[in-house]
Amino acid sequence: MTPRAKAVAAARRAALVLTVVAGVMAARARADDPAAFNPLQGSAQGTPVPTLTAGETHYMQSCGGCHGILGSSARGNVPELRGNVGRLMCTQAGREYIVRLPNVAFAGVDDSVLAEVLNYVIFSFGDASLPQDVKPYTAEEVGKLRREPNKNTNLWNLRQAIMAQTDPDCGRPKPEAARPAQ
Ligand code: HEC
Repeated sequence: MTPRAKAVAAARRAALVLTVVAGVMAARARADDPAAFNPLQGSAQGTPVPTLTAGETHYMQSCGGCHGILGSSARGNVPELRGNVGRLMCTQAGREYIVRLPNVAFAGVDDSVLAEVLNYVIFSFGDASLPQDVKPYTAEEVGKLRREPNKNTNLWNLRQAIMAQTDPDCGRPKPEAARPAQ
């Protein structure tokens, strides 16, 4: 490289560094001014960014990995929540079954967030399977039930027994079975 080419390359590097520094400073200035830049309310370009409730956030963190972030899981491994989960809300036993599932009862969130997660699951994914008059879970109810988890239970048998007691006209699950193949 000739001395001139070296000088040009050095000047270009300096200009690049200055551009990056100026960009960072501008971003910081915007971050200091919430009206100009608030990642929770919208991007700098004005495109709305969706905000998530605590229930939705924790569903994605604690449940979505298995059940899919939209409640649809890989068939055969994990029950499909979308269009099915509401039918469990037809009976008190089904309502309790959900909270006592080990993956639910032991989720790393407090009772009120867990209630929000479950309400998100049943009201957002239940669709036609959800009966009309379902009351949302409360933190108190969830707190009580999760302290008696179904740890050493055959969950499928328990679920079958609950479904056998469920009024066939209550909730309309999707035609395909919610049962994971094993
Ligand atoms: C490690 C994978 C995994 C995670 C994480 C998980 N689940 Fe599940 N879920 C399952 C499996 C498998 C079943 C079937 C019953 C069983 O074996 O636990 C199930 C059953 C369910 C059911 C009953 C569905 C039916 O039709 O019988 C609900 C509701 C549910 N899970 C909600 C949740 C929620 C809410 C969370 C997060 C707090 C969660 N699950 C986390 C795998 C998971």
